[in-house]
Amino acid sequence: MATQRLIWRDEYLIGVEELDWEHQDLFDRLNELHEFLAESDDPEAIENCLGEIHARVASHFALEEQYMRANKFAYYAIHKEEHDDFLEVIVELAQSILHDPDPERRDNLEFQLQAWVINHIITSDKDLATVG
Ligand SMILES: [Fe+2]
Ligand SMILES: [Fe+2]
Repeated sequence: MATQRLIWRDEYLIGVEELDWEHQDLFDRLNELHEFLAESDDPEAIENCLGEIHARVASHFALEEQYMRANKFAYYAIHKEEHDDFLEVIVELAQSILHDPDPERRDNLEFQLQAWVINHIITSDKDLATVG
């Protein structure tokens, strides 16, 4: 099964402007990864690209967590745990790609990142609109 670019939809908006902007930026970064994986199987280059995504995601999570703390969000701990787990998943995926960058693994990596981001936005992040 071939991977596909992500398409932003208004239903992903959570109603917090700066976080919505960053979510759209995250879609752009994942689409860059999509283009990149389509043309390169150089494991180190892929790992670098994932490193940039990791940094971008980490800074997004930091902003979101700051927003939650500022608004005394009741589910802060569980939400932060989801963030921390995902950052670890990105590191593990980057390591496994470095060992074996075959096409199936590259597709699987992309699916996992896309699915997590969309699922997290439409469930956990949506709840953030209820505070503030
Ligand atoms: Fe989040
Ligand atoms: Fe988010």
